[in-house]
Amino acid sequence: MCGIIGYTGSRPAGPLLLECLRRLEYRGYDSAGIALFDEQQQLYLARAEGKLDNLANRVEGRLPPAAAGIGHTRWATHGAPSDRNAHPQLDPSGRVAVVHNGIVENFEALRQRFTDRGDSFASDTDTEVLAHLIVDALDGGADLADAVRRVIGETEGAYSLVAITVDEPGRLVAARVGNAGGIVVGHGEGGADEQFVSSDLAAILPLTRTVTFLGPGEVVDVRADGVTLTDADGRAIERAPEVQPFDPVAAAKGRFRHFMLKEIHEQPDAALDAIRGRYLLDPPRVEIESFGFDEARVRDINRVVLVGMGTSLYAAMIARHYIERFARVPAEVDNASEFRYRRPVLDEHTLVISVGQSGETVDTLAAMEEAQRAGCAQLTICNTPGSQATRLADSTVLIRVGPEIAVASTKCLIGSIIALHAAALQLGRLRGVLDESTAREEIESALHLPAALGEALLLEDRVRELAARYAQFDDFLFLGRGLSYPVALEGALKLKEVSYIHAEGYAAGEMKHGPIALIDERMATVAIAVRDEVREKMRSNIEQVRARRGPVLALTSAGDESLEGVADDVLVIPAFDGALAPAVSLIPLQLLAYHIALERGADVDQPRNLAKTVTVE
Ligand code: F6R
Repeated sequence: MCGIIGYTGSRPAGPLLLECLRRLEYRGYDSAGIALFDEQQQLYLARAEGKLDNLANRVEGRLPPAAAGIGHTRWATHGAPSDRNAHPQLDPSGRVAVVHNGIVENFEALRQRFTDRGDSFASDTDTEVLAHLIVDALDGGADLADAVRRVIGETEGAYSLVAITVDEPGRLVAARVGNAGGIVVGHGEGGADEQFVSSDLAAILPLTRTVTFLGPGEVVDVRADGVTLTDADGRAIERAPEVQPFDPVAAAKGRFRHFMLKEIHEQPDAALDAIRGRYLLDPPRVEIESFGFDEARVRDINRVVLVGMGTSLYAAMIARHYIERFARVPAEVDNASEFRYRRPVLDEHTLVISVGQSGETVDTLAAMEEAQRAGCAQLTICNTPGSQATRLADSTVLIRVGPEIAVASTKCLIGSIIALHAAALQLGRLRGVLDESTAREEIESALHLPAALGEALLLEDRVRELAARYAQFDDFLFLGRGLSYPVALEGALKLKEVSYIHAEGYAAGEMKHGPIALIDERMATVAIAVRDEVREKMRSNIEQVRARRGPVLALTSAGDESLEGVADDVLVIPAFDGALAPAVSLIPLQLLAYHIALERGADVDQPRNLAKTVTVE
């Protein structure tokens, strides 16, 4: 959701904050703002509705020289996108400025308390009460860090914040309350007296790689020459900074028009990175370096529950097949946001596998906490080292596909599918239920996957042609069976996210039970009918759609001509045997969504209303 940045040091803070906000914009683009201390040590505030460029234009040539400040990109929760609802939010006297991510759930009661005593509010945000509360505590004699800790005690909800005050320019105080997004502190390199505070590691990595992550309920008091970390009661916490790797090329758009396109094209390399060192032949086996469960613990598991949200949930749905097929354990999959509210039956024999790109999705973290309370074993599949999911889980399998910047997830899904496939094979081996020939087939096909993904990318010209025609439809149905069912769900999700076209994914067998009523010549169907054991049934479903004059675009595997003349358009994708086949089908669907979005003139990398990391429930 919202992006947060803070800086204190000796460099000009304004341009530095704007630079970091560029890397944070993918988290929210309803508005942006910065607060700096000017030469008189007064707060200079600039905010603008809409994209970061609006703010950059507004401050051009006007930024005061300043050595500390905070910035924000917003994904609106309370109050419409507008200048006055943009962060930073100030208290009425302009003494304190706050940037915030997440939700203060009791903000209405708190706001009432202040309005009852005559305070005015300038915005509709929940954030503004934080500034009032901090000033209240400062007036009562607290210093800024104490004031922030006191605020934590008075508020409900999960959020993170950074606060500054004119009383002490150069000091920032940040807090993480619950699981509504992380806070990471970046320490000046080479002995430089400077510190950064951000919601995202990626925003500060080009500036420093030496960082400290905050856990829930922690507060960090930041001055240019050092930081103090405490819990919410002010007890000191000792945590040595860690050094994170940084690949400058991975975060640049390069020759591609959009990050989404770049990340789609990165998938063969991403798959290689995800596989490297883990899939081994002679004897065929998977070895995940960080797999934290030994044979005894794995044999003790009698059930697996997979959780995630959005695209990561679809990865989990694919992995359910893997767990049952290779590890022979009953597996179920749950939308993380529903999971904890239905009082799931869990115990120490349950393995909960959470899947996520960010490792900060609040619903997924809440599901993990539920599992933790029940004493489950926990494995997380995650692309962000150091994220809260990696801290909550007993064991982490990193997805290892590099930073994903486009809001619509692509390469991370391919990477999650591979990591989950590897985890299922490893579980199967440790449980002693994976036979050598299945292991060999799966490992050989995994090693072939990057090449198959590369071949699938060669379909782009053909997909572009199809997109030009299919962009005229306002409604789409995506159908698949078995492993291709989650692929259909993802195809529909990608299309609606980036092109704003209404699209629904269905298990093809479900079509006759309702959705078929929608089919006519204005409803396009995309059918995933690749070579697998349910292909013939997919063919029947395609015939049923065609019989009702519904246009069909079918994905088939190379070597299978039987759908020519049955579907209106056939897209022949590389034939791929093995459980990783969904990864190959996904590429043309990602390209289709991308090119239809371009045809419709949509903002592919920053689709309206979306945010990369969803840190509110
Ligand atoms: C879709 C997309 C979202 C995320 C979802 C979960 O393109 O990106 O559906 O998959 O918000 O996010 P993570 O994977 O970070 O938990």
